[in-house]
Amino acid sequence: MNKSINLSRRRFFAKTGAGLLVGAGLPSWLQAMEGMSEMPKRAPNKASPNFHPDVEIDLLTKPSTISILPGQPTQVLQYVAKLIKGPANTVTEIPGSYLGPILRFEKGQKIRINLRSELNEPTITHWHGLHVPALMDGHPLYAIDKVQVFVYEFEMLNRASMSIYHPHPHNMTASQVYHGLAGAILVTDPEEQRLGLPNGEYEIPLVIQDRRFDDNNQLVYASHMRDRMMGFYGDRILINGRPDFNLDVASRAYRFRILNGSTARIYKLAWDDNSPITVIGTEGGLLESPVHKPYVMLAPGERLDVWADFSGRNVGSQLVLRSRSFSGVLPKMATRMHQMALPVGSDYPLLTVKVTRQVSDSPALPNSLSTYHHYQISDTVNPNNPVPIAISEGPMSMLLNGRPYAYNDVLPSERIPVNTIQLMEIFHAHGGSGGHGDDKSKEQGEGMQHGNDKPQAEGHKMGGMGMMGGEGMAGMGTMMSMAHPIHLHGQSFQILSRSIGAAESEDYATVKDGFIEGGFKDTVLVMPGERVKIIKPFQDFKGLFMYHCHNLEHEDMGMGMMRDFSVE
Ligand code: C2O
Ligand code: CU
Ligand code: CU
Repeated sequence: MNKSINLSRRRFFAKTGAGLLVGAGLPSWLQAMEGMSEMPKRAPNKASPNFHPDVEIDLLTKPSTISILPGQPTQVLQYVAKLIKGPANTVTEIPGSYLGPILRFEKGQKIRINLRSELNEPTITHWHGLHVPALMDGHPLYAIDKVQVFVYEFEMLNRASMSIYHPHPHNMTASQVYHGLAGAILVTDPEEQRLGLPNGEYEIPLVIQDRRFDDNNQLVYASHMRDRMMGFYGDRILINGRPDFNLDVASRAYRFRILNGSTARIYKLAWDDNSPITVIGTEGGLLESPVHKPYVMLAPGERLDVWADFSGRNVGSQLVLRSRSFSGVLPKMATRMHQMALPVGSDYPLLTVKVTRQVSDSPALPNSLSTYHHYQISDTVNPNNPVPIAISEGPMSMLLNGRPYAYNDVLPSERIPVNTIQLMEIFHAHGGSGGHGDDKSKEQGEGMQHGNDKPQAEGHKMGGMGMMGGEGMAGMGTMMSMAHPIHLHGQSFQILSRSIGAAESEDYATVKDGFIEGGFKDTVLVMPGERVKIIKPFQDFKGLFMYHCHNLEHEDMGMGMMRDFSVE
């Protein structure tokens, strides 16, 4: 469909790109890019008479105002939910927060959600982490306008886990999320319930975000090109939409369900008394057994299930969850040039826990949490031929597999047979450290090895452009290289291996003990120069499933980091 249009657009793009190399101006080029990646429209999905939901929710997105800082209220965008059918605990509002209500589901439930928009721009909601059909996944193709309604109907196939709902319209995801549109989803199942983990008031969702306010308490968002290249960083930490967040607890064990809802900021979570962080789960649910970490890295889109035990602590004692110092996630050049108010990788507090009640009873941490299959290379259909996800970085462009997003522009390597398990490799196309001159063509070739039809050849050429691979740009890789949280829609995956070039070791040492291995993930932080191999199932559903950088500014850039897998 529209093949010829896409081809001519690609040629146009290639020419424009070449023009840039000899010094064409930025704005027209960017405009061309945004024009090129126009998204067609589809009629919103309607309720099916044959679908009999266990749970039905009316979900509204609308402009709203809320009091965040002392003084003037802040204009935000907000999700508002109303339970039509289902258990009373399905929808729980967070009082005083712009965040959407917490949605609680059970595995096996049939769910209908009627999304209605009161925004003055297109929107569509994506269930980040949920395994749903392509039509129900919130692809930008299905964005709705004001007063339109999109009806989602799906069965909850996920095991117990925490997911996110947030908008996913083309080029506007970041700003809608930034202005408030996001919420947490908690799925439960019998395996989790048997464990008797802390629940009710002892299970606390914690959404970490950074925001910037002007003198009138209004949200300030990315305006500078730099904010799109590096990501936008606020100067204030909000937890569940509140500044200076304090949590009063009893002297017992809690379950913290932590979500990084920032558009770009990466955190290194640690307790201020240096007691280990006990992690019991990741994006895709519980680990086999708890792990104790000195700190844990949490990139945008990632979630953590944390066992926080305050038993044995005296009433009046305090514990601060901090983000500790680390380096290497932003381009060295950029960090030198631009002093942030709250620098990424500096040491700052996130929230304070105060023990205010003594209780005598506390649940014990289970030794064994869950059992599941660990994917082996031999489970995959492509053990010697990993599906490439090549990150390329250059001035004004951050790309995946050498291409910006365009609808219906699927590379041969992006076609995935349904019901297969795939080995995939995420890597920096220019080597990240900038020192791998000889590697470069090899890596690039590896990234583009699938198929050899015409669009592929063009892809190759554009890849070179996107990577600024010319000799004169040799140093650019080093200067631009940064960490990217890569997110894949659909089923969660497991990490098979991570490897990194020696040049990165100093920075890498500040983060490497904070990665959780062995669990199910849907977002993985890929450091400069790092290669991450993952194994991911593509079961049950055909259609377009996005993969992108969850640095939402990178996702939204005209020359940005988003692509589709076509599962067929
Ligand atoms: Cu949370 Cu496609 O994203
Ligand atoms: Cu997602
Ligand atoms: Cu990125």
